[in-house]
Amino acid sequence: MKTHRFDIITIFPGMFESPLNESILKRARDEGLLEITLHDLRDYTLDKHRRVDDCPFGGGVGLVMNVEPIVRAIEAVRENRPGARTILLSPGGQSFDQKMAWEFSREENLIFVCGRYEGVDERVLNFVDSAVSIGDYVMAGGEVPAMVIVEAVSRLIPGVVGDENSIIEESFEGNRLEHPQYTKPREFRGLKVPEVLLSGHHRKIQDWQREEALKKTAAIRPDLLKKETERAD
Ligand SMILES: C[S@@+](CC[C@H](N)C(=O)[O-])C[C@H]1O[C@@H](n2cnc3c(N)ncnc32)[C@H](O)[C@@H]1O
Repeated sequence: MKTHRFDIITIFPGMFESPLNESILKRARDEGLLEITLHDLRDYTLDKHRRVDDCPFGGGVGLVMNVEPIVRAIEAVRENRPGARTILLSPGGQSFDQKMAWEFSREENLIFVCGRYEGVDERVLNFVDSAVSIGDYVMAGGEVPAMVIVEAVSRLIPGVVGDENSIIEESFEGNRLEHPQYTKPREFRGLKVPEVLLSGHHRKIQDWQREEALKKTAAIRPDLLKKETERAD
């Protein structure tokens, strides 16, 4: 059994307490599949007031996070994690998606750097492997984006999710959304479960699911279907 180690550099380590101590992340940590270590960025500043930010050169609103404490933190963490892939959370980074989640799940060591305020000094980019965005919107800090990535990646690590089939039959696998799903009751306020799902006929059910997944994807996310064509070419 391999342990995957995630190190998170942040000025708000307390934000991670509850999400990391519930549900599958807690179980994976208890079982030793995952080790998540939080590092308070303020422990790496040389400023006697523990400041980690300053006014931007050239003027402008807000504060920018200093390069030095971030680089000192990354280097300190890397000493115990040689070869760790280091990711800066940034709205200006590459878009995170299921493909990237699979790629990260094959890494044994990942370091996440969470920005705050107006973001980080651009020179930080020289000390990380990549900058990653969770979507085209701006969050107040990198903590929630880091949690999004940690959860998406963790469930792809062998052993974390009980039934491994459940992760290969999901949305975005094969560039499709997942087919609609139903459970009891068979009828709710006049809304019936599609008859085929009650038929017990496996091939018909599979055909229906494939068709519905395709219809749903074409209606809501036609870009995913295009992605597949582009890949096949
Ligand atoms: C308020 S944002 C800074 C936004 C920056 N001024 C800009 O316009 O690109 C502060 C921090 O939140 C994090 N963040 C915000 N939105 C994000 C997103 N979509 N993906 C990843 N990180 C994000 C980053 O770590 C960022 O440094």
